[in-house]
Amino acid sequence: MTDIAQLQSEILAAVAGAADEAALETVRVGALGKKGSVSALLATMGGLSPDERKVQGPKFNGLKDAVTEAIAARKIQLTDAALDTRLASERLDVTLPVRPENSGTVHPISQVLEEVIAIFADLGFGVAEGPDVEYDDYNFTKLNIPPDHPARQMQDTFYVAPQKGDKADGASHVLRTHTSPVQVRTMLNTKPPIRVISPGRTYRVDSDATHSPMFHQVEALVVDEGIHLGHLKWTVEQFCKAFFEIDQIELRARPSFFPFTEPSLEWDMRCDRSVPGKITFGSGNDWLELGGSGMVHRKVLENCGIDSKKYQGFAFGFGLDRMAMLKYGMPDIRSFFESDLRWLKHYGFAALDIPTLDGGLSR
Ligand code: DAH
Repeated sequence: MTDIAQLQSEILAAVAGAADEAALETVRVGALGKKGSVSALLATMGGLSPDERKVQGPKFNGLKDAVTEAIAARKIQLTDAALDTRLASERLDVTLPVRPENSGTVHPISQVLEEVIAIFADLGFGVAEGPDVEYDDYNFTKLNIPPDHPARQMQDTFYVAPQKGDKADGASHVLRTHTSPVQVRTMLNTKPPIRVISPGRTYRVDSDATHSPMFHQVEALVVDEGIHLGHLKWTVEQFCKAFFEIDQIELRARPSFFPFTEPSLEWDMRCDRSVPGKITFGSGNDWLELGGSGMVHRKVLENCGIDSKKYQGFAFGFGLDRMAMLKYGMPDIRSFFESDLRWLKHYGFAALDIPTLDGGLSR
């Protein structure tokens, strides 16, 4: 009896004194392991007489239970303590500001693209997309520019080498010279009413301070019953006010020619360029070219399976890079695509700084 009580108090003292889980495990093996002190005591039960066993049995088992419980309880204490220590030492300060050298900026073209999408989304337009490598047929022919039409020379085209599966003419793919082929794709795939814009990359053999061989346009297309020039004018006006963030603008429409529109118009906006390096919109004696537009040509509607007796449409195509240059005062289009980090830092935008019609465009 004294032996058991003695042993128990020794083991419990060792359990309480175990400083970590490894030390506790050593105590456990020393008591309950195969060769442990408690196991050795239990093994002596076999040599006892039945009467002795009746008396000693419960005491032996009581010892075993007490030791097992004490070890389990201590284990929980030690795990909790270990977790507390880890939490204290691995604390993260989530309020630290990010390192400034890691903050990127949104490229002005991406910014302007998002702005244009947001403005037209508010006017109820969806976004349509098309590939950069386009069928000659969609880029020209379906837009009423047949193979030998002089209008093809208006747009210096990058032709793509013939590919497997091309039609026999050997020139059935081009890098799209404008976003207008997306009009074709949209009309071939959707029934009116159609109200889409299509911003994206376009390509022409051209390079100087205001022309880059790769540039960006935004196309707009509306097809419905009863569409007329008034709708075109209103839309261009709303768009320009929102984009340039001024209420007082003056637009001028000039007669023009595009094979895919009849009549065709080009839009200019009144501006003041009398102070070198500065451009102001809404006043002045100068005009700024925005881009081409018109009522979608009857033949284009028919080429794309739309009944031109029932439906009319308007379209326009404006240069996105030009608009970014004008709005944000960037003098040379080539710097857009040179990936100079200093330029990007200077002209880039903070993320999520996108104006909308709703949000009030001034910032
Ligand atoms: N695609 C023409 C160009 O790149 C611009 C244009 C003119 C687009 C008239 C149109 C349009 O949608 O109706 O020069």
